[in-house]
Amino acid sequence: MIDRNTIEQIMDAAKIEEVVSDFVALRRRGVNMIGLCPFHNEKTPSFTVSPAKNLYKCFGCGKGGKPVHFIMEHEQMSYPDALRWLAKKYHIEIKERELTDEERQAQNIRESMFVINEYAQQFFVDTLHTTQEGEAIGLGYLHRRGLRSETIKKFGLGYSPEKRDTFATTAVKNGYNAELIAKTGVCYSTEDGRLVDRFWGRVIFPVHTISGKVVAFGGRILQNNPKAAKYVNSPESEIYHKSDHLYGLYFAKQAIMQHDRCILVEGYLDVISMHQSGIQNVVASSGTSLTTGQIRLIHRFTNNITLLYDGDKAGIKASLRGIDMLLEEGINTNVVLLPDGEDPDSYAQSHSTEEFEEYLKRNSVDFIQFKTNLLMDEVGDDPIRRAGLIGDIVKSIAVIPNDILRSEYIKRCSDMLKVSEQLLVSETAKIRMKRAEERQKNLQTTNSGNQQTATPQQEENSLQQSIVDESQKNPLYNKERAITQYILRNGGKMLTVPEDKVTGTPSFNESVISHLHFSFQGDGIEFTHPIYKKIFAEAAEHSNELNFNPEEHFQTHPDAEISTLAAELCGDRYMLSKMFSENNTELRNESAILFEQTTRLAISYKQSIVDELLKQTMAQLKDPTVAANSEQAMEVMQNFKYLKETQQALNNQLRQYGFSTSAINL
Ligand code: CTP
Ligand code: MN
Repeated sequence: MIDRNTIEQIMDAAKIEEVVSDFVALRRRGVNMIGLCPFHNEKTPSFTVSPAKNLYKCFGCGKGGKPVHFIMEHEQMSYPDALRWLAKKYHIEIKERELTDEERQAQNIRESMFVINEYAQQFFVDTLHTTQEGEAIGLGYLHRRGLRSETIKKFGLGYSPEKRDTFATTAVKNGYNAELIAKTGVCYSTEDGRLVDRFWGRVIFPVHTISGKVVAFGGRILQNNPKAAKYVNSPESEIYHKSDHLYGLYFAKQAIMQHDRCILVEGYLDVISMHQSGIQNVVASSGTSLTTGQIRLIHRFTNNITLLYDGDKAGIKASLRGIDMLLEEGINTNVVLLPDGEDPDSYAQSHSTEEFEEYLKRNSVDFIQFKTNLLMDEVGDDPIRRAGLIGDIVKSIAVIPNDILRSEYIKRCSDMLKVSEQLLVSETAKIRMKRAEERQKNLQTTNSGNQQTATPQQEENSLQQSIVDESQKNPLYNKERAITQYILRNGGKMLTVPEDKVTGTPSFNESVISHLHFSFQGDGIEFTHPIYKKIFAEAAEHSNELNFNPEEHFQTHPDAEISTLAAELCGDRYMLSKMFSENNTELRNESAILFEQTTRLAISYKQSIVDELLKQTMAQLKDPTVAANSEQAMEVMQNFKYLKETQQALNNQLRQYGFSTSAINL
């Protein structure tokens, strides 16, 4: 942990133009500098650096932030590592916050495990290239599989000798701790206390993190033996969570960004052979079905995935499983099936790069066409089965979070299957409604039931999950974002609350943030989105400090997520200027304008909450089971009336101050 003062010192020292220039050629344009964006493929520069604001922003792909965020993105580093990188560049000494004993111990263990993996990796590589057994058996096998020496070196392939404790004995002799060796899973301890190599007699495929550290190994058996597993893999450990890694991503990430596409295959050898043949934007899910964590990993580099699988039944099934998960994460998904009997490895070995690329181009279909082709074959003209097919495709379309994309797919589906668009629209809407209800129900049961049993880690995970979900589904999200942005810009400024003639309260000054804080607190309102809620609460804590500068405070926040979001919001001029363009003709002093803006924002947010509640109540009114129960129906009616009155009252508040009642357009 780096202490806050040091973070601020680093942020002050790091000049955006100097940091970016280490990686991108920039030239001056007016007060700014421009260059070709390193994060997406472009021919005319839309990547802009503002020395005055100390920010970068790409108007092509939308990425932007402070120097530290540039390093995080470009070098794929964590927040603390990016800060350390900058500290080194600017010769700033880092003061780390004292870790607690527990934290230090956990960190030591994790670091030692990486050290052991690194050692094991070197051992397996050395064994492959410099021992007789390694060369004869391991290297011989890899060459027979068509891999060239430079490929074998690049991917760090190795060999673990037949003798069952060669590595264990060597490692312990060299001073590595047996218990930690077992923790990494390179070896395991038997019941009688011996340390045994997990991968004996296998060729080794190291699995790298995005930044290139070895976290795990896969070991392939050399002979076909139906009794033994073809692959043995490292078990889960403190440092290795299988579902958060993708084989080959470290080697593919640059190519994925350049092509703005990731090809997903199944196996280690598929990745390696395709690389060798010149197609490098390839990663493997290593035989298991894709996880959300893996999809998000890919999503950091591109929005486009091609699933490349064998043309056999298993391959088709694997594609179908992957599709909905990818769509749900908002990823454009294409599928390519290889000719029967081929896998990416064999195809890459027997064709040139151009032939492979041509095949991919010719046979790539989007998921609708993929499902349609597949199922049309089976379904034929049978009307009932045809309806089933349509239902199936509609289900996939319904999970796509982006409205525009969804309606494009509906059009395509309507064309391909000759079904009316209207029908498809209403069918997808039904499915989305149902899913939203289910989510709501799940949310309620998890909130009421499981509280004691959830570990902090589980809570953390579900929190993360909900941040992503809500960003797409919560209708209040945009307003919370806009208010957060407003707080970052203006939260520390003073506004003037005019005299209240009704209660006789005289005019007074207070900060924008404390005004919002009291306004929301008075109505028992809290933000729904966890990260905006956190920022709001923290800003409120500082509301009485005279020199509180929220922009500065949150951009240099020790929590990477908050710092990144703050930089993003501060760099985004567009939203705010749009918000207040209507109403600034009158010449008034700033504190009066701030009062109007703040009040209108707060009321606008409250109006959205009421609107949401009204929508839910309307739905209840239409529900036949509610209508049948007169007591319940009464209650809902009462509720409805109350909400209508609240809506009126909010409008009156605006009128009372002489503000326009037209909604602020967020
Ligand atoms: N896999 C595994 N354990 C197994 C079988 C497979 O972990 N017993 C994983 C491996 O990551 C493997 C992937 O699933 O790379 C795909 O399996 P498969 O296609 O059978 O293996 P290939 O990698 O293609 O290996 P080869 O071509 O040598 O058969
Ligand atoms: Mn294979």
